[in-house]
Amino acid sequence: MKKIRIAIFASGTGSNAINMIRFFENHPSIEVGFVLSNKSDAPVLNAAQALGVEVKCYDNKKVADGDFLVSLCQEHKIDWVVLAGYLRLIPTKLIEAFPEKIINLHPSLLPNYGGKGMFGSHVHKAVIENKETESGITIHFVNQEFDKGKIIAQFRCTIAENEGVSDLEKKIRYLEQGYLPTVIQNTILA
Ligand code: GAR
Repeated sequence: MKKIRIAIFASGTGSNAINMIRFFENHPSIEVGFVLSNKSDAPVLNAAQALGVEVKCYDNKKVADGDFLVSLCQEHKIDWVVLAGYLRLIPTKLIEAFPEKIINLHPSLLPNYGGKGMFGSHVHKAVIENKETESGITIHFVNQEFDKGKIIAQFRCTIAENEGVSDLEKKIRYLEQGYLPTVIQNTILA
């Protein structure tokens, strides 16, 4: 039986992409079809390739071309797309071709600390500067606006008074590593 195929889009280090590749390596019904990046020097490309996953890299103009991304995903028989540290807006045509089948990971409790420019450590810095007492991660469907699609799951962590950006970053990474693959699996198989 054909496995359900995921494309992972990632722009950077790829710790979440790699965690998902490992999680789905011998999965009975889900597999990673390819990893796509918009940055030719993104560490995720070598790391994914080393694990035997096909990688693709295109410039920002190409990844803004919805028709191109739709045909690429169709050619590779992709069923779901997961954005793991991917920082470009997803073209409308791809969203229309994959309704509620594109999932994003965001390192805050949306709707707080989302939107354009809110990614990675920028999010943690803003959270710490505002003296929040908790933060967390959000896993959500992607729509036309950055970080605004329907929420699938959120996981929280507390922030003590003396904690800084790097402490929070560690807690967020811990939540992401622990929860993202299973939430993806459960959403796909629901
Ligand atoms: C992750 O913390 C992810 O939540 C965040 O980028 C990091 C990527 O790390 N995504 C965003 O900020 C999206 N707005 P990784 O490359 O090691 O997976």
